[in-house]
Amino acid sequence: MTKTVVVTGVAGFIGSRVAARMAHEGFSVVGVDDLSSGKVANIPSTIEFVEGDLAVQGTITKLPKQCAAVLHLAGQSSGEMSFDDPVADLHKNTVSTLNLIQYAISVGVQRFVYASSMSVYGNVPDAPIAEDEHVAPLSCYGVGKLAAENYLAVFAKQLSSVNMRMFNVYGPGQDMSNLRQGMVSIYLAQALANKHIVVKGSLERFRDFVFIDDVVEAWLRAATFDGVGGSTINIGTGVRTTVAQVLETVKGHVAGTTVEVTDPTPGDQNGIYADTARLRSILQMNEFVGFAEGVRRFSEFAKTA
Ligand SMILES: NC(=O)c1ccc[n+]([C@@H]2O[C@H](COP(=O)([O-])OP(=O)(O)OC[C@H]3O[C@@H](n4cnc5c(N)ncnc54)[C@H](O)[C@@H]3O)[C@@H](O)[C@H]2O)c1
Repeated sequence: MTKTVVVTGVAGFIGSRVAARMAHEGFSVVGVDDLSSGKVANIPSTIEFVEGDLAVQGTITKLPKQCAAVLHLAGQSSGEMSFDDPVADLHKNTVSTLNLIQYAISVGVQRFVYASSMSVYGNVPDAPIAEDEHVAPLSCYGVGKLAAENYLAVFAKQLSSVNMRMFNVYGPGQDMSNLRQGMVSIYLAQALANKHIVVKGSLERFRDFVFIDDVVEAWLRAATFDGVGGSTINIGTGVRTTVAQVLETVKGHVAGTTVEVTDPTPGDQNGIYADTARLRSILQMNEFVGFAEGVRRFSEFAKTA
C-alpha cells in the first residue's frame, strides 16, 4: 500500500501542523496551498509542496496518481470574511472540496478527512451539541462547510470520509496578524500589541476551545484508524468557556490590558460547545490540554515569536 498522503492547507495554521505530524509518522506527504492566507514559512521542510488553488483543475492535475489518504484543510477559515464575497468563499471552500473529492475517487484513496466546522450547527441551546442534531448555519462559511459534508455523503459509496467538525482551535502557529479569525489569537494579539482588546459581541457568548496539539492527534487518528469512515465527529473538548473567561485568562498573561465591547459580526453564533462522546469513542481521545494551560503555552510562544 502506498504511504503517500495529500494534505491541503499546508501553509496555514492547522494544515502545517497536521502535515508535519503525518511526515513524522512516516508518510510521504504531498502538501497543497495557494498561499492566499498561508505563509511559506509554515510549510514543513519534510514534505513535497504543490502551490495552487484547489478550485482550479490545473492544481488537481498536479496531485499524485497514487494516494492513500486526503487530509483536506485548505480553505478560507473565517465566518466573518465569508460575507465579504460569498461567491469567492463558495469557490475557495466548496468548489475546491468537490474537485478534491473527484480526485480522491479517481485515484482510489482509502480515506478522505475533511475540515468541517461547528459553524454548520448555527444557533443551538445552551447544552453540549451532538453531531446528529439539527444543522442550520448562520454564515456563508457555514453553508459551504455543510455543502461539502453533503457532497461527501453523496459520494459515500465510492469514498470513505470523516467530517471533522472542529470547534475553536487555538495555539502556537495561529496567524496573529489576522484579526478576523480565531478568538484567542485575536485577543492575545491585541493585548500584546497595545494592551487593549476590542471584542466584537457580547462577553456572555461561549465557545469550546481546543488546543492545536489535540486537534493534530485527532486528525492522525481519523486518517489512520480502521472503521471510522462515514463518521462525522465534533473536535472540541466539551468544556463551555465564555468570552469573559477568555479575556480574564488572556489578561492574566498581559497585565494592565483593557477591554472595549463593540457590535457583533454578522452570522456569529451566540454560544456553542461540543458533545464529545464520538470523539472519545470513535477516535479514543480522552485527554485534552486544559484552556488555562493552552493559553499559557500560546502566550509564551507569542511573546517570543
Ligand atoms: N481554526 C479553527 O478554529 C477552525 C475551526 C473549524 C474549521 N476550521 C477549518 O480548518 C481549515 C484550516 O483552518 P486554519 O485555521 O488552519 O486556517 P488557515 O487560514 O491558517 O489555513 C488555511 C490554508 O488554506 C489555504 N487555502 C485557502 N483556500 C485554498 C484553496 N482554494 N486552495 C488551496 N489552498 C487554499 C490558505 O492559503 C491557508 O494556508 C479550514 O478549512 C478552516 O475552515 C478551522
